[in-house]
Amino acid sequence: MKIEEYLFAMKKRCSRRKYTNRPIDSKYVQQLEDNIALYNKESGLNMKLIIGNGGKLFDGFRKSYGLFVGVQNYIAMIGSKTLLNRMEKVGRFGEKIILEATAMGLSTCWVGTSYDKNAAKELCEGNEVLDCVIAVGYSDEKHSLKERMMEYGMHRQNKSKEALIEAEEPMPEWFKQGMDSVYLAPTARNLRPFVFKYKDGQVTASITIPTETAIIDLGIAKFHFELGARVGSWDYGNGGHYYFDDKRKDSDI
Ligand SMILES: Cc1cc2nc3c(=O)[nH]c(=O)nc-3n(C[C@H](O)[C@H](O)[C@H](O)COP(=O)(O)O)c2cc1C
Repeated sequence: MKIEEYLFAMKKRCSRRKYTNRPIDSKYVQQLEDNIALYNKESGLNMKLIIGNGGKLFDGFRKSYGLFVGVQNYIAMIGSKTLLNRMEKVGRFGEKIILEATAMGLSTCWVGTSYDKNAAKELCEGNEVLDCVIAVGYSDEKHSLKERMMEYGMHRQNKSKEALIEAEEPMPEWFKQGMDSVYLAPTARNLRPFVFKYKDGQVTASITIPTETAIIDLGIAKFHFELGARVGSWDYGNGGHYYFDDKRKDSDI
């Protein structure tokens, strides 16, 4: 997908928690499968798309605290315990797939806690772990009352963009654009548990609140930054550097 399409999808994306029973069009299922296979190769993760069996993880009040309705499909974010930077890769590649799914007209939601973890563990082999899942499917355009209540609750916790930046002036335009995209990144409980620094011409990103999913959130946010700043690449890791490189092509995303 082209960088403009990722940026467009980024603005359109929002978490959806109620899904209709319309099956995902088969050509999109195939595209999701192909992309997941490609990113598994690239990252070393073992992400799996599960079609039509989502009820096992979400149905019944006990499983999702009643938060999710009608989830039929999901992506299990699985990786080996020994895979370096596993959780950051979960964030980066999961968000890449989410933006691609958004461009296909699909709804999504990252789910770290509100699902039946034991039922999902059956998908792991050997020393694999499941860090979280991503619900995917179609939603009605209109958000349900319960969805709106959740959104209200989450967005009350609203850290400003400035609170995510520690920078020397003048900030380059590409850094500001990167931060505009970071501000659109989903994070667990909308906590935005990170800070992006610009000092001596160098950009780094690190965790400020050590939550269970902070490194996943960081992976998502670093990917958004890269899309917004447009040219450059990141070192993995908490405190990792960003390298601005205006010779890099958009097709490298
Ligand atoms: C790693 C991660 C885990 C999440 N886990 C849950 C969850 O368990 N339940 C839930 O309802 N939303 C979950 N969310 C969704 C966030 O609440 C949501 O992204 C945030 O409130 C921002 O809203 P938006 O995605 O609509 O922009 C999670 C998001 C992330 C990134």
